[in-house]
Amino acid sequence: MFDREVINRFQAYATPFYYYDMSLLRETLSKLKCAADKYGYTVHYAVKANANTRILSEISSYGFGADCVSGNEVVRALECGFPASKIVFAGVGKSDEEITTALKNDIFCFNAESLQELEVIDKIAGTMGKVADVALRLNPGIDAHTNKCINTGLADSKFGIDFNKLDEAVTFVQKLSNTKLVGLHFHIGSQILDLEPYRLLCNRSNEMQGKLGYMGLELPEINLGGGLGVNYEDPDSQMIPDFERLMDTIHANLKVKDGQRVHFEFGRAVVAQCGTMVSRVLYIKPATQTNFAIVDAGFTDLIRPALYGARHLIENLTPHRSECETYDVVGPICESTDVFASGIPLPKTTRGDLLAFRTAGAYGEIMASQYNLRNLPNVYYSDN
Ligand code: LLP
Repeated sequence: MFDREVINRFQAYATPFYYYDMSLLRETLSKLKCAADKYGYTVHYAVKANANTRILSEISSYGFGADCVSGNEVVRALECGFPASKIVFAGVGKSDEEITTALKNDIFCFNAESLQELEVIDKIAGTMGKVADVALRLNPGIDAHTNKCINTGLADSKFGIDFNKLDEAVTFVQKLSNTKLVGLHFHIGSQILDLEPYRLLCNRSNEMQGKLGYMGLELPEINLGGGLGVNYEDPDSQMIPDFERLMDTIHANLKVKDGQRVHFEFGRAVVAQCGTMVSRVLYIKPATQTNFAIVDAGFTDLIRPALYGARHLIENLTPHRSECETYDVVGPICESTDVFASGIPLPKTTRGDLLAFRTAGAYGEIMASQYNLRNLPNVYYSDN
């Protein structure tokens, strides 16, 4: 995917590093905007996927909102140009301090995940003389058929309130004096490639709206969460996710009342393909079954393979010998799980080669750590 000129620039960069293709990001944002505008849907970017300030500022400039899961994300989103009126705040464990930060900044809405949390939000809002707008995050009981580590909509998930308990939750909020119920929120998981779970989610939302109708309630906001997946195996075949197909599916299946607004919270689909992690090969160590290609990036730089068993396409960027060999690509961290890939074919690889770990823009840089007292990865942009 990278042309010679870009690869030549990489030679001067200190590895390991993240490289962001800003024109791909802009193209992705334009496509997302078109797909959402077609039906008047509102999109909030899920800041957790990548909170790099340049990336955030680019995204906010398209008029999107932000989906935050910590007080610090709320503050970062504001600093990067997202208006408070377009910020939602989710998460099962919002601290009192974080709730206060969000209220102080008059964010659009809290996605509340338990009755006790509602009580706390209400109390804090009361002491601040404010009214908190909340959406109930309902656990819809839908299997998104994704990696079990990132499936969130099943009945035993820690997230949200059981959809069977909608009446109880609504009655509970209605008794609170500093909290206003404005909507329903759902999120079924992440890296979802099949649209069927979204169709089921629409059905669940319709059913919940029916129940609200019986209670004489019509809420202005419906938030269907994020989760649209990307192509990790063959990124070049689909650099921009098919937002239009998803929105068409939602439009065809979701019942929307007059004046009701539909929201999404996409993270991965927005930023995954524009980011690549690049690392240099330190050593080649032949072993009985394989060759270890020991690189200078570890799970401290890109944790998805070690944490979720995720796979990123690895390409050797150094112009090459055509002969292929089999490698286990591993990092330098003192942990056996510091493995990016096992038994993969690569053109014969030698010390000093640059390897690209594709589709790393989401949940890459932001999940980096300093374990082993390592440096955080460097960051470069296509339009530096
Ligand atoms: N909304 C809520 C309530 C969420 O929990 C998430 C992601 C999103 C939106 C954004 O989902 P996305 O569009 O990015 O799929 N670190 C994992 C992914 C964790 C996702 C957590 N929640 C990974 O590297 O795959």
